[in-house]
Amino acid sequence: MIDNNNKSSLHNGWNMRIIVIYFSNGLKRIFRKNSGRIISLLYLTACLIFWKYRYLIWKPEGLFLNLKMFIISALILVIISSVTFVTIFLIGMPFGASSISNNLHRIGFVNSVGEAPLLLSKSIDKNNSKIITLEFKTFGIPLSEWADNQDRIESALNIHIDEIYEGKNCRSVIVKCVDGENRLSDYIEWSENLLSDENFEIVLGEGYSGRVSVNISKIPHMLIGGSTGSGKSVLLKLVLMQCVKKGAKIYIADFKGGVDFPPIWHTKCSLLTDEKTLHKVLVSITDELQSRKQILRTAGVANIDEYNRNAKKKLYRIVFACDEIAEVLDKTGLSKQQKDEILKIESELSIIARQGRAFGIHLVLATQRPDAAILNGQIRNNIDTRICGRADNVLSQIILDNTDASDKIAKSSQGRFLINSGKIFQAYWFDENIL
Ligand SMILES: Nc1ncnc2c1ncn2[C@@H]1O[C@H](COP(=O)(O)OP(=O)(O)O)[C@@H](O)[C@H]1O
Ligand SMILES: [Mg+2]
Repeated sequence: MIDNNNKSSLHNGWNMRIIVIYFSNGLKRIFRKNSGRIISLLYLTACLIFWKYRYLIWKPEGLFLNLKMFIISALILVIISSVTFVTIFLIGMPFGASSISNNLHRIGFVNSVGEAPLLLSKSIDKNNSKIITLEFKTFGIPLSEWADNQDRIESALNIHIDEIYEGKNCRSVIVKCVDGENRLSDYIEWSENLLSDENFEIVLGEGYSGRVSVNISKIPHMLIGGSTGSGKSVLLKLVLMQCVKKGAKIYIADFKGGVDFPPIWHTKCSLLTDEKTLHKVLVSITDELQSRKQILRTAGVANIDEYNRNAKKKLYRIVFACDEIAEVLDKTGLSKQQKDEILKIESELSIIARQGRAFGIHLVLATQRPDAAILNGQIRNNIDTRICGRADNVLSQIILDNTDASDKIAKSSQGRFLINSGKIFQAYWFDENIL
């Protein structure tokens, strides 16, 4: 990006390069579909017929016959080629492209020579007419810069961006968005039919462009952050409820004696209410991990899903959850012996974080404490799904590695989260009695 002093003097304008880009984009769009190819063939045939019978339409007579014929031919040639060129150009230039580029220019979202990205296509999702997909020619602006400037792009174009990713080649970027007038609902109730049929896909809530979910068989662990009252516990329970329904074995560490989990949870999950039991259970989980290693190796498969496809006795998934991991791992003010106990717990959690994925062993951890030292690097860095509700800069930074949750989630919101894929969503609210 260029600095503020320079950017006002620079402008995409209608230079030759842009004309060529839209012209070739038009050609690509025409020839991409069969219908486009057929229409252009018909157009070409019509032009040839028109050309062949040009003197029947304008009959040259009298003096300077040859000159008149020449002028008629030249005129028709100019008309046909201009109409063809302008039509292809207009097909290649999406509606509103010019104002979009101008708006990006206005906010200084330009490359080093002052060119703003160029809109190449704009399409509306077939299944959800709210979702708009914009494809841009980047003019060398890297994807990371798009992500860093997401807020500014959103307000310049009056959209909510749901996803930004690289197009077919590194010179284009796809922006999935909805109109800026769309609002996320503050309350969306969970219903049974939302439960995903897909193997261990966990549904979290509704984003601007539809349902937001994570598949824990692909991204095994989850870290949820947010200040008190942001909706962490409800989200954690939403995740665990779906894991229960999908047949996982759940362990919940809760040193408050399990009071945050009404009796129904105690019948479906194992609650671990003190350090000793927690450590014992974690050791049994990592022992199970080691024995699964052997089982998978013997069966010659890479992961639990492959194993279960043919196994008579299927392996179930194991989920270890904790609603306030800082309470479990905080070592401040503890005796040496107590610290050692916690270090042992930490070491078991690290093994699960590093190796759990293939063996169907998962961590779902939540925290409200903005204290980086609590969650050691090995655990934190191996948790790929990070979700943060309303939070201050420090907590957002710890959970998401950026301050986006603090910038984008209103201080009054409940159940509103930002996932590290960049999507904002309203988590489903659910009644614990349906467990
Ligand atoms: N998904 C949600 N939708 C609407 N309101 C919610 C949602 N999640 C939480 N809330 C509201 O926020 C309150 C606090 O939620 P809770 O999960 O206990 O927060 P935390 O665990 O972060 O302190 C709930 O009692 C409820 O009123
Ligand atoms: Mg809570």
